[in-house]
Amino acid sequence: MPISDDIPAPALLNWETGSEVAPLTPGEVRAWIVELDAGLPPGADVDSTGPGSEMEILSDDERARALRFVRVRERRRFARCRAALRQILGALLDQPAESLRFKSAAVGKPELDQGPGVVAPIRFNVSHSAELGLIAVCLEREVGADIEKVRHINEAARIVGSFFTPAERAAFAGIPEIDRDVIFHRGWTRKEAVLKGIGSGIGGLSSKQETGFGTTPLAPRFTLATPDPRVDRWLLWEAAPRPGFLAALAVDAGDPPFRVAGA
Ligand SMILES: CC(C)(COP(=O)(O)OP(=O)(O)OC[C@H]1O[C@@H](n2cnc3c(N)ncnc32)[C@H](O)[C@@H]1OP(=O)(O)O)[C@@H](O)C(=O)NCCC(=O)NCCS
Repeated sequence: MPISDDIPAPALLNWETGSEVAPLTPGEVRAWIVELDAGLPPGADVDSTGPGSEMEILSDDERARALRFVRVRERRRFARCRAALRQILGALLDQPAESLRFKSAAVGKPELDQGPGVVAPIRFNVSHSAELGLIAVCLEREVGADIEKVRHINEAARIVGSFFTPAERAAFAGIPEIDRDVIFHRGWTRKEAVLKGIGSGIGGLSSKQETGFGTTPLAPRFTLATPDPRVDRWLLWEAAPRPGFLAALAVDAGDPPFRVAGA
């Protein structure tokens, strides 16, 4: 059954400090890739260069969290990703980036804190892996994002065996060894995007959501997940935003229900 253009495919943009951020339209899902190792001073070493001016727009808690990373590279990556999130949300809300406050929903999903009893219309979700961050935003619909750098995960078969559905386990068992790293991460990003949309994260890993591994080649932009992008009330997109990276994005399409063309 085709899916209508009620919820158009999310745009996938490249974030740079100072990038223009157009207002969100209802139903629009937008995402940015943040290069966490780019733009270092000439001659600076990627592994030993800490965060710079981006620290200035973080909250005290965020700065403290950045400084808790033992590796300076991870400090910089965290600070840059959080600063980008603040700049994007600040531009969308027309508020200074440094003035934003965050809180966690009951299940731990970060959300904007706009004061007691106020539900922020802008929903967002963040993911980062190695040198890339992914920031997704949507108006009035929950969104979940995941990005992963494809690498060898020793525990892949165990993770699939423990946490994926019987059909997914059977499908993974049939994947040739040489393709397993890519296919595992593809399945993982799909599942994480939905679980992060729900807000449960890894704690929600169970056989409940059958997200599968994907059946068609991926593009650098988001395309609907194959063979069926619907997972319960979630609509799932996938992309290969950079060589060696996979990303997935889930949006709550259930309330109001997304329209199916011809229905
Ligand atoms: C936090 C969690 C939701 C995702 O962790 P992750 O995959 O390591 O990290 P990601 O980069 O995708 O996401 C981290 C971001 O998710 C957001 N987040 C945190 N808790 C969240 C929740 N309950 N729901 C949705 N989003 C959440 C935060 O913005 C966080 O960003 P921050 O670290 O800058 O604060 C975690 O519960 C989880 O599922 N971890 C599993 C990781 C794992 O085992 N991977 C192995 C297989 S590759």
